[in-house]
Amino acid sequence: MAQDTQELPFNEYIMNERWKSRQIDINAYKAFHAKSLEQLEEFWAHVAKELEWFRPWDKVLDASNPPFYRWFVGGRLNLSYLAVDRHVKTWRKNKLAIEWEGEPVDGNGEPTERRKLTYFDLYREVNRVAYMLKHNFGIKKGDRITLYMPMIPELPITMLAAWRIGAITSVVFSGFSAEALAERINDSQSRLVVTTDGFWRRGKVVRLKDVVDQALEKTRTVENVIVYSRLGLKDVPMTEGRDYWWHRVMEGIKVNAYVEPEPLESEHPSFILYTSGTTGKPKGIVHDTGGWAVHVYATMKWVFDLREEDVYWCTADVGWITGHSYVVLGPLLMGATQIIYEGAPDYPQPDRWWAVVERYGVTILYTSPTAIRMFMRYGEEWPRRHDLSTLRIINSVGEPINPEAWRWAYKVLGNENVAIASTWWMTETGGIVVSHAPGLYLIPMKPGTNGLPLPGFDVDVLDDNGKPAPPGVRGYLVIRRPWPGMLHGIWGDPDRYIKTYWSRFPGVFYVGDYAIKDQDGYIWVLGRADEVIKVAGHRLGTYELESALVSHPTVAEAAVVGVPDPIKGEVPIAYVVLKQGVVASDELRKELRDHVRKTIGPVAEPAHIFFVTKLPKTRSGKIMRRLLKAVATGAPLGDTTTLEDETSVEEAKKAYEELR
Ligand code: PRX
Repeated sequence: MAQDTQELPFNEYIMNERWKSRQIDINAYKAFHAKSLEQLEEFWAHVAKELEWFRPWDKVLDASNPPFYRWFVGGRLNLSYLAVDRHVKTWRKNKLAIEWEGEPVDGNGEPTERRKLTYFDLYREVNRVAYMLKHNFGIKKGDRITLYMPMIPELPITMLAAWRIGAITSVVFSGFSAEALAERINDSQSRLVVTTDGFWRRGKVVRLKDVVDQALEKTRTVENVIVYSRLGLKDVPMTEGRDYWWHRVMEGIKVNAYVEPEPLESEHPSFILYTSGTTGKPKGIVHDTGGWAVHVYATMKWVFDLREEDVYWCTADVGWITGHSYVVLGPLLMGATQIIYEGAPDYPQPDRWWAVVERYGVTILYTSPTAIRMFMRYGEEWPRRHDLSTLRIINSVGEPINPEAWRWAYKVLGNENVAIASTWWMTETGGIVVSHAPGLYLIPMKPGTNGLPLPGFDVDVLDDNGKPAPPGVRGYLVIRRPWPGMLHGIWGDPDRYIKTYWSRFPGVFYVGDYAIKDQDGYIWVLGRADEVIKVAGHRLGTYELESALVSHPTVAEAAVVGVPDPIKGEVPIAYVVLKQGVVASDELRKELRDHVRKTIGPVAEPAHIFFVTKLPKTRSGKIMRRLLKAVATGAPLGDTTTLEDETSVEEAKKAYEELR
């Protein structure tokens, strides 16, 4: 939620008994941080040595061709080896890796489907699936495969299997539409799609394979589809010679099948993940192998203080970067026990998550501000029904956490005895960049802050001219120097990579967020500085929504802006100009909302649609979304001298008031 900077508690310092022994003075932490930057390469090499490499690197950072940086050049490793093989050689072989719970419950509210996988189970399955990909479907190093799957263990298993043989995964969030799926398959030129018949969400069956079939009508590169039977649906249409049931193929693969992990170059791409930007279609963000592993490993230790006995639960969907780094890779690199839950947070009732925390004794919870605000609204009585005393760390991610929500989580969920951080990062960074680091030292917490940059990350807040913004003054968040988990460009579009991230302030990575640095150097990210909207933490581009609206036969023009929402942080609203002769009506409004749902996915549905006859534009024809946002939030309009037609704003105002 865009923060009201007047209310930010720059001077509130919080510490508690459990974490006192890790407490460090802010200046001592800053000195430690400064030292990590002075010897940046040595610092990261020191961390990287804790992983097992098949071949050591020759150079930590190759900065000879900026901004195309390369980390741990010459080094060879394999993520699947690090996530499973490494553990089965130790006592962790029989340790639980994944505790999975499906959404359905019985009459007593108990889950009816649970699965427990040890590291050895995971090792076996990863090998068998790697075997299937390689030998049954001919997938080779560098091939792209698209995964369109719900939150079941087979999703991380398939990702690890792909990485074992050097295939590049493109995971598409299971809430995205056929159109969005097709676009991502086409951009990545995937040869294979892995999906399920469906999954449970809020007590209803979501049929995934049907969406894949629709998407494949618009793609040409996919040779095969593997369908995992999550629900046992009997009426799934299977295209002969193209579609195969997972269990049928796996029947023919030995239980002890073994596939040699490829010794991959550190810079070999592990995955592509599509994310929204300011303009144009979603960008395929590419991440490497070695740098990403080192970044994720380090932050698992520093930010989550992960210990052998922990029960770790990151509630993010694997369809987003948080799930990639902190469900699939992070906990498995560490040999941790983690929870994976299939369904909705408040199904069948608002204490579902708290029942999960109690059932498994969760110690570390990583979640979103939107979820916390939703639970806050349901009331304290729901968490109070359960024993949450095992929790020792509660972190959030995806959007700013407002101080009230922070305080609620700290008190009601954490009994004022947990460490809490609002971890700042993004798809492009690959891992957490700004956060408290209780696994190292804990500086005093402040409700809602992101904290200080982690060691090895050179973060700053700049003014319009690229000079450091003074303390307390809003500026642009940047990262000054390369970091291990950084993106390796945009799939197939190097120019866009340079233009989007490295051109606003030359030589410096431009994030696209507004932020404030307070008098202690703590970072407070305020929200996006561009036309990206964060709806319940999901990242959407106004351009994508506008294109979806304009693709409807009745729409001539559309402008979308994000406005504050008490739970979701932000929601999109749309101003629509209809084609001549089309009559505005509530039915049409509903139809357009449905159309956006179908084109992008339910997360993108506009909260309101306003019909207007013209949009506010500059004389050169650029839509002034800023003014539409001001109208909806009641903020001052600011400078309107470039506006072509004043009545457009009056009309937007009127439309807005009528709907209220
Ligand atoms: O605006 C920032 C916000 O989420 C954006 C990145 O979105 P995405 O790539 O989807 O990744 C989200 C999960 C890592 C950022 O530009 N953001 C993320 N974390 C925070 C945040 N804003 C404030 N506080 C955070 N902790």
